[in-house]
Amino acid sequence: MGSYVQTLLILLLAGAGLLPVPLKSAEGDQPDGAGLYKQKCSMCHGAEGKGFTALKTPDFTDPKWQEGITDKEIVETIKNGKKGTPMPAFGDKLKDDEIQALVAYIRSLNSNKK
Ligand code: HEC
Repeated sequence: MGSYVQTLLILLLAGAGLLPVPLKSAEGDQPDGAGLYKQKCSMCHGAEGKGFTALKTPDFTDPKWQEGITDKEIVETIKNGKKGTPMPAFGDKLKDDEIQALVAYIRSLNSNKK
């Protein structure tokens, strides 16, 4: 008699415990380009993407700089870094969709777009 109620209770508890897991992974899969930039890039490229003269980082807000580089080149730079410069490679630290989010964020810094 009691074991039937017990089984029901266990199933209910298990159901309640498992539910939040699929709910969590279903949302928030979009990487946050601005957040990633702030965490991993802003110390060398500036919070506003204007770069630092001393580091020779480019000004991402400059429309001329934006015109002079393709999305593919930006992806390559993020993945492989730039040899002979302090620009590090992020290929083993960032997923492809995170790199895409960063490219979109860098494009959004273009002062032409405002
Ligand atoms: C340790 C400092 C440092 C960090 C951290 C850094 N960069 Fe750079 N980055 C540089 C420097 C220096 C250059 C300029 C290289 C040169 O002289 O062409 C550069 C250049 C670039 C360029 C331009 C490449 C080109 O061909 O003109 C892009 C795009 C870029 N970085 C993106 C990023 C992104 C995105 C991140 C974060 C994921 C990042 N960087 C993190 C130092 C850094």
